[in-house]
Amino acid sequence: MSDGATARGSATEREEARKTAEGLEHLSGFGNEHSSEAVPGALPVGRNSPQRAPLGLYAEQLSGSAFTEPRAENRRSWLYRIRPSAAHPSFTRTGNGALRSAPFTQTVPDPNRLRWNPLPDPDEGTDFLAGLWTLGGNGDVAQRSGMAVHLYHANASMRRVFSDADGELLIVPERGGLLLRTEFGMLHVEPGHVALIPRGVRFRVELLDETARGYVCENYGAAFRLPDLGPIGANGLANARDFRAPVAAYEEVEGPVEVVNKFCGNLWAATYDHSPLDVVAWHGNHVPYAYDLRRFNVMGTISYDHPDPSIFTVLTSPSDTPGLAGVDFVVFAPRWLVGEDTFRPPYFHRNVMSEYMGLIEGAYDAKTAGKGGFVPGGGSLHNMMSAHGPDRETFDRASAAELRPQKIDDGLAFMFETRWPVSLTPQAARAEHLQQGYDDVWRGLERHFRPLH
Ligand SMILES: [Fe+2]
Repeated sequence: MSDGATARGSATEREEARKTAEGLEHLSGFGNEHSSEAVPGALPVGRNSPQRAPLGLYAEQLSGSAFTEPRAENRRSWLYRIRPSAAHPSFTRTGNGALRSAPFTQTVPDPNRLRWNPLPDPDEGTDFLAGLWTLGGNGDVAQRSGMAVHLYHANASMRRVFSDADGELLIVPERGGLLLRTEFGMLHVEPGHVALIPRGVRFRVELLDETARGYVCENYGAAFRLPDLGPIGANGLANARDFRAPVAAYEEVEGPVEVVNKFCGNLWAATYDHSPLDVVAWHGNHVPYAYDLRRFNVMGTISYDHPDPSIFTVLTSPSDTPGLAGVDFVVFAPRWLVGEDTFRPPYFHRNVMSEYMGLIEGAYDAKTAGKGGFVPGGGSLHNMMSAHGPDRETFDRASAAELRPQKIDDGLAFMFETRWPVSLTPQAARAEHLQQGYDDVWRGLERHFRPLH
């Protein structure tokens, strides 16, 4: 590179990307039938596929659901692009790096409670795709069911373009801002925000800071949606209006661009003679979006008892069984605790669902802060029916605490909660950053039982 840029991307590039990110406009709402054009007149009026699309563009439909799924489930977008997606050379297999896919059969499923420290720093020149590291998951990509838990660490912006045929990608940054350049336009996320890239949508991740780190839930199943609110009413939890979709933005790059496609668990690459991020206008509801978790409208008790954490669900991917999610994305956002005669931290429990938890910042109220156990960038796995809950110090403190109103505002934790046990990849089961002795946090929970006679 001639202008002093290194493989990490120059500071100038990051500054330009940040300026772009901070000036972005967006469309608001979740699941809307959006439309956007980067050039006036690029969107056809009154039809999707006119004999000649406006401005010499090609019309193309991207389906996120079967054509015949019910209207409420149906997802598709129409893209008006400089070249059709079909104009590409053959894909050939490329290395998967540390990215793995379901079925995860290489380790014996582990009933133990497990906790990891953050990923070690990546090698120089690691982009988002190369920095994906799979912890585990369940289901089967070829059956379009289940999910995978990935972490990422990166210190370089992507030059290539990626898409995932196997599922949608819920990106949860923990460190470093990201500019996501997608076929639909650009999204800006910082730690505390999440972004979703729908199945099949091409995108590139550019770094806004020197390094980036975070989590990804790859959802092979039904697309994430907002949970029903039931008796909560018409508003609350994640409000639809707070979701941001991009406005159309395209790039005209004539020259070699590497495009990587994840298909049935493997990465395949092709070198295009143009950028596929060449969509000048689009409309539809199969679109990327971003959301600031701090806008989550937290619900909780105003009388007694700790509600089940389903009350903190941001997004849910339903299964064929009503009420049973393939995976839920749940956030533990700042909130007041006011329950009377209540053990206020999360209670002890065993859960038929399996829980992977991560921490975006601060501390989590079931694990005592300052011990360096559950730390930002790390994670814990409490698999199906594994017993867990507050650690001993938390139990002792909360059992004796004076129950005044208390603000929990020093942390942002989240959970990927899934219907099936999470099996680990060998790299996660044997990782140096897998903590030893996590069970010890529940040691010393003393016997307090005293019969009355
Ligand atoms: Fe739990």
